[in-house]
Amino acid sequence: MAGDRPLLSGRPSSELSNERDIAEEDALLTGQPTMRSDGSRTWKFWRELGLFVWAVIATAVVIVLAVIYQKSQDPNHSTPNPTGKRNLIFMVSDGMGPTSLSLTRSFMQFQNGAPYSEQLVIDQHLIGQSRTRSSSSLITDSAAGATAFSCGSKSYNGAISVTPEHEPCGTVLEAAKKAGYMTGLVVTTRITDATPACFAAHVNMRSEEDRIAEQLVGDYPLGRTVDLMFGGGRCHFLPNSTEDSCRADNKDVVDLAKKSGFTYISDRKDFDNLKGGGGLDFPMLGLFADTDIPYEIDRRNEDDIYPSLHEMAEVALTALSEATRDSEKGFFLMIEGSRIDHAGHHNDPAAQVHEVLAYDKAFTSVLEFLKNEPTEGVMVSTSDHETGGLATARQLHASYPEYVWFPGPLANASHSAERLDLEYNKYLTNDPSDDAKATFIRDSISSGLGLKDYTDDEVANLVKDPSTALYQFADMMSRRSQTGWSTHGHSAADVNIYSSDPKAALPLVGNHENTEVGDFLREYLGVDVESVTKELREKGKELKVLDANGTEVSWMGKIPEEGERLDGQNHLASYGGDFKKRHLLHGRGCDCGH
Ligand SMILES: *[C@@H]1O[C@H](CO)[C@@H](O)[C@H](O)[C@H]1NC(C)=O
Ligand SMILES: *[C@@H]1O[C@H](CO)[C@@H](O)[C@H](O)[C@H]1NC(C)=O
Ligand SMILES: *[C@@H]1O[C@H](CO)[C@@H](O)[C@H](O)[C@H]1NC(C)=O
Ligand SMILES: [Zn+2]
Repeated sequence: MAGDRPLLSGRPSSELSNERDIAEEDALLTGQPTMRSDGSRTWKFWRELGLFVWAVIATAVVIVLAVIYQKSQDPNHSTPNPTGKRNLIFMVSDGMGPTSLSLTRSFMQFQNGAPYSEQLVIDQHLIGQSRTRSSSSLITDSAAGATAFSCGSKSYNGAISVTPEHEPCGTVLEAAKKAGYMTGLVVTTRITDATPACFAAHVNMRSEEDRIAEQLVGDYPLGRTVDLMFGGGRCHFLPNSTEDSCRADNKDVVDLAKKSGFTYISDRKDFDNLKGGGGLDFPMLGLFADTDIPYEIDRRNEDDIYPSLHEMAEVALTALSEATRDSEKGFFLMIEGSRIDHAGHHNDPAAQVHEVLAYDKAFTSVLEFLKNEPTEGVMVSTSDHETGGLATARQLHASYPEYVWFPGPLANASHSAERLDLEYNKYLTNDPSDDAKATFIRDSISSGLGLKDYTDDEVANLVKDPSTALYQFADMMSRRSQTGWSTHGHSAADVNIYSSDPKAALPLVGNHENTEVGDFLREYLGVDVESVTKELREKGKELKVLDANGTEVSWMGKIPEEGERLDGQNHLASYGGDFKKRHLLHGRGCDCGH
């Protein structure tokens, strides 16, 4: 993948002009012989006349070509697309900041023994940057971040396509569905998590994943708007009477989905039976894990259990393309590399590089699809925010640091810190002795992290404090690679925007607010999001639903209380001694995954 050429955007202009220079040089060296030896005046006359005529014709041709070229550049004169049929693929790399790319690129070069000029595929399609703040904070969360994409407007952290006033806002996916497009969501996290939820659900708090599950299958004012969903999060669809459920109530959302027409599949075998996506039965609900699909670093050893991001993306693209072949409209598909964010939250550099590589692979699949697809289309890829405050540098001691960063230790890891933590905590349920724990941990570190130089202190700390084992395992990897992190949360860093076609995505070239990404999506598809907002508000006005306690609440659920929601502008301006307060309040547990 790393060696691939950019598939659509062509070569960078510098390379092209280089080639032109070389061609011109060749012409000078090997071209017309000089005429100095020819003394004949007649010959000179005819030669000059010939050259003059040739120059006039050439100039005319150049002018004509220039005019044609300019017209083709002008969006109002572009090649006519009489049907206006279009496909839009929107890719979200959750929590991936620019440093994630530096980290992963260097790792890829180390692992492949590639030169430092070797790029990731995604590197070759950079077009701009997005500023990510929400209405409530300079540091956004995935909910407010995705609301900026789906609704094209800023809202508070935690908002799933609702405004700061707790009104629903229509989404590009809903508007696309109304306009006759087919729609899809492909993720590696729970399909009820913030990013996918923001495209086809509306709740006041992102934690209401049970309600999101119901809305995604059509139990909300607009009815069903998603034609295809692939991802995890099965536990929110199963009634609480079943073992794998994480619902608070006993609603069977899988059954609800089937009643509204969905074909439901739930494992690798079902997925493989889709045979690449041709002739797939729409609408399609594929939930391949109880919660998140495992990190790629773990999943690649469990390929027979879970499909990968690029496999899901490829099936979705094939299926949607085929299903819209004879229709007037194309499709809108959102594909999320969801767990780059989680690796950032966990401060786990080994997990992160494999998540980014998996995203790069899915990115490549999309480029390949667009190259072969007859319907006009574009892919835009961006992140909702950066996670972890990642740095490809780390000062380990008080003395001035050496300028080093080591991808090597990451290459020997075969498991994520998350997986090792899970296995350790499972092991602890047997109530082993401290010696047995230490032996277990040493084995975990050397086989899972691939580290042989662990210290007795590191092992002892893991024995002593299993509640932070996740962070301890990740930190061992970060220290050895000298990877730095400034937070287990998100940061306010600008994130990159990529596209398959910088010309089609021209409005996103340069530095933009995240809401402008949302504006682009609706404008590219030419859909009316405002009328969806109106419809949602009208139909939802009197709509109440029962919560798990049998209490009537708004269909968008409870409104967050003060403190659950960062409020207003004052969060920016006022520093209220949080440093001390937080220090005292801060627990040691891991509130991961946001
Ligand atoms: C399951 O949900 C029902 C409401 O639908 C509730 O009454 C019951 O207590 C729940 N059971 C468990 C074990 O949570
Ligand atoms: C990675 O594994 C190889 C082969 O076992 C070993 O030679 C190398 O020292 C290891 N690298 C690190 C950083 O542990
Ligand atoms: C149901 O009531 C209990 C007890 O008052 C509360 O803790 C819980 O959060 C409520 N559940 C919902 C979904 O509101
Ligand atoms: Zn996010």
